[in-house]
Amino acid sequence: MKKRVLTGLQPTGVITLGNYIGSIKQMIEYQNIYESFIFVADLHAITVNQDSIELRKNIKSLIALYIACGIDPEKNTIYIQSENPYVTAISWMLECNTYYGELSRMTQFKDKSKKNANFTSGLLTYPVLMAADIISMNADYVPVGIDQKQHVELARDIAIRFNKKYKELFIVPEVIIKTTGTKITDLQTPDKKMSKSNENQKGVIRLLDDLNVVRKKIMSATTDSEMKIIYDPVNKPGISNLINIYSSLTNKSIEDIEKEFIDSNYGNFKTKVADVVVDTLSNIQKRYNEILNDDEYLDRILDKGRDKNIEISKKIYDKMIDCIGLGR
Ligand code: TYM
Repeated sequence: MKKRVLTGLQPTGVITLGNYIGSIKQMIEYQNIYESFIFVADLHAITVNQDSIELRKNIKSLIALYIACGIDPEKNTIYIQSENPYVTAISWMLECNTYYGELSRMTQFKDKSKKNANFTSGLLTYPVLMAADIISMNADYVPVGIDQKQHVELARDIAIRFNKKYKELFIVPEVIIKTTGTKITDLQTPDKKMSKSNENQKGVIRLLDDLNVVRKKIMSATTDSEMKIIYDPVNKPGISNLINIYSSLTNKSIEDIEKEFIDSNYGNFKTKVADVVVDTLSNIQKRYNEILNDDEYLDRILDKGRDKNIEISKKIYDKMIDCIGLGR
């Protein structure tokens, strides 16, 4: 039987080049090897306040973007998290086997709760819902960017704990992290993650950005004064980030890139990076515009995805109810 791979992204605004490289691009590779599941984590999005009209729009847009990026609906089960009520029920049962201490130690929780003192309890329990996403689908592998690694590790801990307490019920998931592209950084402040919520959008590339703007953002990326195209994330975070982007999108190794640009200046290198990014986004945007308004096509994919998602997770749910001793 094929191993299962699963990942999800939040529909909070248009996803970034970081999301694409850290997550979607990996799935495009794995869809040819594993049984693949990719979903829109809309329940995770409401841990912070969302406008309901925008949220709906973003969910649909993200589904269209998955497909436009190359997620093949024939090879993937594509679904929307909130359309499956079993996941939240499973999440509750896992929550009762997860400790407050564990959740309050999560780096993302610490960062986000510091930024807004009036945070919801959903922000704290968010990683348990993520564990439910993974465990309820019996996923073997979870490809994510480095920022989500800790959450997948927690999902592992919860699965192991549950298996010990009750019976060997869950597959213990493994995180997959690529060596390059696990953390694409902000083009203006390259010691910070490229994130949808960064204040200055000049350093953030979104997949649906105007292509001229994308080129400008790359050409004005922060670098250093050394003029050497060498991968050194500590001392040269800006150039290393551009090397990472170039490496991920061309599948060239870092060593080959360093050799290719040994006599090049930063301007030339940035132009090459911009060419590759613009070319990638231009293909994605073309396909996106073709399918976004094809509701029949998208609904067919999502109905099929929802049904399969529910079918698999209901089995896990029934077993959990049984071994915990809930109900009749
Ligand atoms: P989210 O929506 O914040 O990010 C989606 C994916 O993109 C990766 N990522 C990055 N990778 C490289 N460089 C960056 N700058 C960058 N920014 C984001 C993230 O690591 C992630 O892989 N909780 C998750 C969604 C989720 C999920 C799951 C993922 C819900 N349930 C189950 C896997 C399995 C999240 O908020 O990702």
